[in-house]
Amino acid sequence: MKGPQTDWWKNSVVYQIYPQSFQDSNNDGIGDLNGIRSRLDYIESLGADTIWLNPIYVSPLVDNGYDIADYRAINPMYGTMEDFDALLAEAHAKGIRIIMDLVVNHTSDQHDWFIQSKSSRDNPYSDFYIWKDAKEDGSLPNNWGSTFGGPAWTYVPERDQYYLHCFAKEQPDLNWENPAVREAVYDDMRFWLDKGVDGFRMDVISVISKDPAFPDNDGRYTYIKSYYMGASNGPRVHEFLQEMNEKVLSHYDVMTVGETPNTTTDQALLYTDPERKELNMIFQFEHMHLDYGKYGKFSVERAPLADLKENLSKWQYNLEQGWNSLYWNNHDQPRAVSRNGDDGKYRVESAKMLGTLLHGMKGTPYIYMGEELGQINPVFPSLDDYQDIETRCFIDLLRENNEPESFIREVCHNGSRDNARVPMVWDGDQPNHGFSSHEPWLPCSKANQEISVKNALKDPDLVFYHYRKLIALRKTLPVLRDGTYTLLLEDHPQIFAYKRTDGSDTLYVICSFADGTIPFSIQDLPLSNQEKSNLNHAQLLLSGYPDTPQEIEKIHSLRPYESLMILFPGQPD
Ligand code: GLC
Ligand code: CA
Repeated sequence: MKGPQTDWWKNSVVYQIYPQSFQDSNNDGIGDLNGIRSRLDYIESLGADTIWLNPIYVSPLVDNGYDIADYRAINPMYGTMEDFDALLAEAHAKGIRIIMDLVVNHTSDQHDWFIQSKSSRDNPYSDFYIWKDAKEDGSLPNNWGSTFGGPAWTYVPERDQYYLHCFAKEQPDLNWENPAVREAVYDDMRFWLDKGVDGFRMDVISVISKDPAFPDNDGRYTYIKSYYMGASNGPRVHEFLQEMNEKVLSHYDVMTVGETPNTTTDQALLYTDPERKELNMIFQFEHMHLDYGKYGKFSVERAPLADLKENLSKWQYNLEQGWNSLYWNNHDQPRAVSRNGDDGKYRVESAKMLGTLLHGMKGTPYIYMGEELGQINPVFPSLDDYQDIETRCFIDLLRENNEPESFIREVCHNGSRDNARVPMVWDGDQPNHGFSSHEPWLPCSKANQEISVKNALKDPDLVFYHYRKLIALRKTLPVLRDGTYTLLLEDHPQIFAYKRTDGSDTLYVICSFADGTIPFSIQDLPLSNQEKSNLNHAQLLLSGYPDTPQEIEKIHSLRPYESLMILFPGQPD
């Protein structure tokens, strides 16, 4: 929408859709725009008010759409521009906004800009990408590794030069130093904004500005730690974003969320402090790294609760001036229930608990499709069934390192991005889970067959209705939006508890990570004297179990993964 930016996104809950896997409408095994349109009612019934669509543009799909060949055209496998317009119009009619993925650190090597750029050293696009000569001794321009393995440089004989790609070699990095590149990107952004899209999620936006010296790194950043991580937050990134804001974003009432790997809270403030006019919020990764092992996300570790508390609280405290995005899942992450909860006996309880923990915090919550059902990591029948480029590269790397196959299977099961990318389970009794009547592009997950929308909607005690309540509370309780955050019971080994208060209401969020029953009573919390004398005014807003006593004084324990939200309402003036 045209007009100056407002902060509607502070009240929003975003639902992320991976279009390839959400709903297939024409039965070719691939999710599509009309499929999404046919499921808007579902998203509406959940209560989410904003959709983030992963890339739907023309792409050779080397990295599933994060390699874009034409920023202004819809990939025909997802439908047509008319289908997109219809989706946007219907979503808007329901009060649901749509934000798009903006992938402009790199393009596809099939983009016209790159095809021209690589053809010679002298053409209108020759400076659109990052081209370097070999070093004097004939070796690569520097020792940076690409995220998906191998060097970050690929040689092109026509130019007798190398181009930089922080990701796959089919994803050449744009040269943001070139003002013509920036203007071209801004034009593409305006194209979508003028259509009425409601903002952008900006892919690896912290990486767009490179150190002009292109220094060799200390050798740590190869393969599993690509240099792009080290190259995050380069010297001109804020200048570029301020320019983008001034020239484009400030003219529209839209939201922006930047994906910013390797970003600290200090840097996050630079991106999100409203005074600086850059982005509204960022996706940080620190809590995603707490369980990393020697192969990064391909790990057998679990994030210790103490680390989770420390880290998530740090982001709450340090971003008071900016704004947080809150997430457990996305298309690059395994399922949170499998990762941080219990995907067996206490799947439902732990999924609810993780949802409560996140949605109680300050910031804008993101739900990745299927999270609201409590979906778990699928079991891929064989390593050959993984399709994701990152997973495939890691399987090769781990085999080269002679890691046992059983280890490789385990870390792929825990960490592969394909965990999140299997088709949505609408109805486990239908062929292909109601996603398509054709065999899907990635196998359906047997492990999730019963964790379906159909079953979820029938049972008020399942995860879906819990998420619905969490979203509804966010829409009605100002303290959830504005209240300051304080971590409580800091040293408790099994409980993650915090309070939010806005001077009127006080909300306590209590989450157990224990898989057994543990003692707990409201008196364990550092209540104010007024709260202590008003215990009978406290309201149990939400619990992960259907039979938690409404009178909070009767709560003497927390059952496995139980979570509570307790409100002490402010005194009416
Ligand atoms: C982001 C995307 C990921 C993609 C990468 C390169 O991290 O979320 O899916 O592979 O950027 O574009
Ligand atoms: Ca289709």
